[in-house]
Amino acid sequence: MARLDNPALLQLDSLDNLGTLAASAEMIAAGRGLVAQLDLPFPASAIRNVAICGMGGSGIAGDLVTTAYADRLRVPVQSLRNYYLPGWVGEDTLVILASYSGETEETLTAAMEALDRGCPAIGITTGGKLGSWYPDRGLPVVSIPPGLQPRAALLHMLIPTLEILVRCGVLPDLTADLDEAERVAREAAESYGPSVPQSHNGAKLIADSLDGSLPVIWGAEMTSAVAQRWKGQLNENAKTPAYWGVLPEVNHNEIIGFEQMGDLGPATAVVMLRDPRQHRQVQRRFDITKELIEPLVRSVTAVTAEGETTLGRLLDLVLLGDYVSLYAACLRGADAGPIRLINTLKERLATTGYGRATG
Ligand code: PA5
Repeated sequence: MARLDNPALLQLDSLDNLGTLAASAEMIAAGRGLVAQLDLPFPASAIRNVAICGMGGSGIAGDLVTTAYADRLRVPVQSLRNYYLPGWVGEDTLVILASYSGETEETLTAAMEALDRGCPAIGITTGGKLGSWYPDRGLPVVSIPPGLQPRAALLHMLIPTLEILVRCGVLPDLTADLDEAERVAREAAESYGPSVPQSHNGAKLIADSLDGSLPVIWGAEMTSAVAQRWKGQLNENAKTPAYWGVLPEVNHNEIIGFEQMGDLGPATAVVMLRDPRQHRQVQRRFDITKELIEPLVRSVTAVTAEGETTLGRLLDLVLLGDYVSLYAACLRGADAGPIRLINTLKERLATTGYGRATG
């Protein structure tokens, strides 16, 4: 029996992240139309640019949207992962604040700043301070279902983010994308679910090939933030270090680091996330880079997105990566759910003040 066909290994997933992932199509369906119900207290015509604020599992939706839809965004849109808003954010900036818990201090600080600057703003949250401050100040909030890990609730945040941008005229109608997204999510559950044997299960096969390695995930254009998502999911679910990079930039520095990898070479597994719509030269770069580094590392796995629409192809790779990370957790004997160090760090930040760093 292949390792990931052993039911005992899959039971390490104490918060049933595999079960949540299997319900991705339902999450997309539930998210559709949520934004249409909102009463927007500002005219969409006033918006000249957009800032999407969020951290970790709540921040990735903004990164995915800005990289995947770069060619269709009608005004500048930037994903921000920080306490501060840049100087250009003002009364004509739509600020989207995404925090699953509604309690993340960087996002709350940005939210206060947005209020001070008089920005049109919308929150996406399950509650917390973001869920109470915003409505109290007349700003709309998209309420999403509680009870999940933020990273497992990506679709609860991604779909409303897209719908906000459509409603404000920043993106064109995305009905075809959303329809395909639901189909892709159903197919992912059928292809990569735990009951599909490893020999036919692309996610289990990639997880197995990554086991015991240092994963390096490279994307480009639409797959840039997907590479970031894979890296984050491997960190948080599989409890392993992982790194990500973006072509063509990787070709201008990072590949040199592979020339003298020493002991790290045989331990490094590279995954390339490709998309048939990437620039022709980027396609060649992936091919040539693979040829150059394959002899220097343990493995290079290239995966190409499938689908007709941007969102379909995006989710094709995002959901594959989510499954890979959960199976990688099983192989490492890790419980994908708890994120002890993140919680400890947040607790310490909340209970200790500023002090001089002592090393
Ligand atoms: O995955 C996680 O739990 C984290 O990355 C959180 O998303 C991050 O710490 C921010 O918290 P929240 O999503 O509640 O704003």
